[in-house]
Amino acid sequence: MAARRLIVDVHTHVYLPRYANLLRSRTSVPRIVSAANNEDSERLLILDHEPSGGRPVGAQYWQRDEKLKFMDMHGISMSIVSSANPWLDFLPASEASKIALELNQDLEDYCETSPNLNGTRLQRLYGFGLLPLVPEITTSTLLETVQQISQLPHLKGLIMGTKGVGKGLDDPALDPVWAAIERAKLTVFLHPHYGVGGNPWGEVENGHVLPLALGFPFETTIAITRLILSGALDRFPSLRILLAHSGGALPQLSSRLASCIHHDPLVASRLNHDARYYIGRLYYDAVAYGSEELEFVSSAIGRAINYSPDGKSAVDIGSRRMMFGTDHPFFPPLSATEKWPSVTENLDAIEGVQTWSDGEKDGVLGGNALTLFDLQE
Ligand code: URA
Ligand code: ZN
Repeated sequence: MAARRLIVDVHTHVYLPRYANLLRSRTSVPRIVSAANNEDSERLLILDHEPSGGRPVGAQYWQRDEKLKFMDMHGISMSIVSSANPWLDFLPASEASKIALELNQDLEDYCETSPNLNGTRLQRLYGFGLLPLVPEITTSTLLETVQQISQLPHLKGLIMGTKGVGKGLDDPALDPVWAAIERAKLTVFLHPHYGVGGNPWGEVENGHVLPLALGFPFETTIAITRLILSGALDRFPSLRILLAHSGGALPQLSSRLASCIHHDPLVASRLNHDARYYIGRLYYDAVAYGSEELEFVSSAIGRAINYSPDGKSAVDIGSRRMMFGTDHPFFPPLSATEKWPSVTENLDAIEGVQTWSDGEKDGVLGGNALTLFDLQE
C-alpha cells in the first residue's frame, strides 16, 4: 500500500452521546445494558432476538477521540461519520422529530470542532445526518429536517434504513422527500438493520454470522430493488444513493432482475430503462472484504453504460462509483493487534483488484468520495 494515498472512509458509525444515553434509558430492545458484574462494560442489544447477549460496547462507539485514533492508526485522513442502526425507527413521531434535529446538530458540532489533520488545514470529519423516518411523521417535518441537514455545512447527506415511514422505500408518500434530497444535492447512505430470514431453514445458533453476513446485505438488496421498481430513479434522475456493503446482492442479481422485469408487464411499463442501467446510477461502498467481489461490482456498474440510451448518467469505469469504508466501530479485532483486520482486509482487497489501475484504486480509496461529497482536499 503506497503510504501517501488519501484515504476517505465513507462507512463509519457513531452512537452520539445523546443517542447512547437514550439507549441506556430503555427497558426493551434496542438498548444498552450494563454487563453483569462489571460496571465498566456495557452491551449493545439492537437486533431482534439478539444472539449471545448482545455485543460488548465502549468508548469506540461514542467518543470522537477514539474515532480519530482509529483513523490515525489506519492512515485514514477523512471520515464521513453516520449514526449507527437502528437510528430513530423505534420512537414515536413526536420524539423522533425532536431528537433528529438534536442529533443532526450534535453531529455537525462533532465534525466542526474536530482537530485538523496534523500540520494541515485538512478538515477530517464530515457526517451523514438522519431523518425521523417513522410511521405517522408528517411530510413537512421530514422536509424541515432535510432542510436542516442541507444547511449544516459538515453534513453531506443522510443515512437511511430500509423501512421508510413504515411502508418501505417504494412508498409514494416519500416522493416529496426524494425530491427535496435531490434538490439539496445530499447523498442518501442506504444501510440495513433488520436483516432477512434469520430463523428459516435451520435452528442451529450461529451467533451474529447469518444476520450480519447475509441478512444485512439481503435487506439492502430488497430495499433498493423496491425503489428501482417504483420508478423513483427515473422520477429523480439526480438522486444520489450510496449502498452499504457494496450493494449486497444487487450487482450479482441484476441481469436476473432485468429478465424478471421484462417478463412482467406490470413493472416493465413503469420503468424507462433496463434494470442494469440503474446499477450504474448508484454508488457503492467498497466494504466487501475481497478483490474478486470488488472487481465484479465495478464491472456490473461499468456495464450500465450499455443500457444508457444517451451514454450519460452512467459511467463506463465502474470503480468511479465505489468508495472505501470500514464499518467502524463494528467488527473490532478479537485479539490484541495494532490494526483492525476488518480494515486491512478492505484495504488489501482494493489494492488487489487486478483490473483496476493505480488511479482507479486511488479513486476508490479517497478520490471518488472527495468528488461525490465535494470535500476540500
Ligand atoms: N453491525 C451493526 O449492527 N451495524 C453495522 O453497521 C455493522 C455491524
Ligand atoms: Zn455499517
